[in-house]
Amino acid sequence: MLLSIMQKHITALLTSAALAATALASCATAPGQSLGQSPGKWSAPSLNHTKPLVIAHRGASGLRPEHTIEAYKLALDQGADCIEPDLVMTKDGVLVDRHDTFLSTTTNIAGHPEFASRKRASTDPEFPSSREDWWVADFTLAELKTLRAIQSFPGRSKEFDGQFAIPTFGDVLAFAKANRTQSGKVVCVYPEAKSPAYHAALGHPMALPILDALKAHGFDRKGAPIFIQSFEPPFVKEIQPLTELPIVMLVADKAALAEALATPGAPYWDGLGPSIPVLFNADGTSSGVVEAAHAKGIAVHPWTFRDDAPMRAAPFNSEPAAASMKRTLALGVDGFFTDFPATGVTAVAAFNE
Ligand code: G3P
Ligand code: CA
Repeated sequence: MLLSIMQKHITALLTSAALAATALASCATAPGQSLGQSPGKWSAPSLNHTKPLVIAHRGASGLRPEHTIEAYKLALDQGADCIEPDLVMTKDGVLVDRHDTFLSTTTNIAGHPEFASRKRASTDPEFPSSREDWWVADFTLAELKTLRAIQSFPGRSKEFDGQFAIPTFGDVLAFAKANRTQSGKVVCVYPEAKSPAYHAALGHPMALPILDALKAHGFDRKGAPIFIQSFEPPFVKEIQPLTELPIVMLVADKAALAEALATPGAPYWDGLGPSIPVLFNADGTSSGVVEAAHAKGIAVHPWTFRDDAPMRAAPFNSEPAAASMKRTLALGVDGFFTDFPATGVTAVAAFNE
């Protein structure tokens, strides 16, 4: 049922392809083109044939504890175009960089006896109440700043555990502003609002704080090197009219894409961030999602390529990340997320050779 709904929406998008393609031909810029990427130089059918962006997923998180300034710095050193901070909110309403609303897996909080009594059952609807943890929303920024990040991904080096602080979103924007990519371009920042409905229920709506932080760092104008992303269609719909910055709708699978497309007014996003398998049929051919999005002028940025965790779903069959990147670049994606930016940069460089 969900698949047929999705196919209906993809068909609807494709039906308008000719009209949209005409509009696109006269479109001066596409999302991301303002980042100094030259249109017309890329052999695959990305929007305006613009070179795809390498987006460092949680920083160079394959090699450093995720969501730390050191992980973002290594990403830039390796040639990434964008750094990705996932955002959650503290008890005192500050946006901080964490993937999760809890702290046990990415910080050393378990080794802080002063916080031992603060461990409690989940009230985040994403997790069952049986999950006991320390929750970001229970801690002030000052308390969180006493913690240090750890590597959470099994099998990755723990050499840097316990060394790096949790940055605020403001810290990341200041870091981005003070640096350049390896090729001398402005650093693109790709923030994700994590669990915005949960945070709003706690009294911390996220849209305005995100936009205010961007404005405070001069990243609010049209063409600024920013993409704002979320998995929650109501949040995407809420924030889209509040800013001229591109907004990206994240979808975890084909059913989630169908659900987002079924919401009134869809597609009300400038970019689509699908999990990689959404873009393919089992036989390795295109699912049509890239083509349909491009027909609407919507950029496509799939996630997440990992050197140490090749995808097991067809058509990837556990192939190395570089091979999966190559097959995905051939579809014409406009960028992609990877935990290993060096592999992504190499794959992009090799693609047009
Ligand atoms: O935001 C793109 C990708 O990061 C989505 O997955 O769970 O790693 O934030 P997640
Ligand atoms: Ca993310």
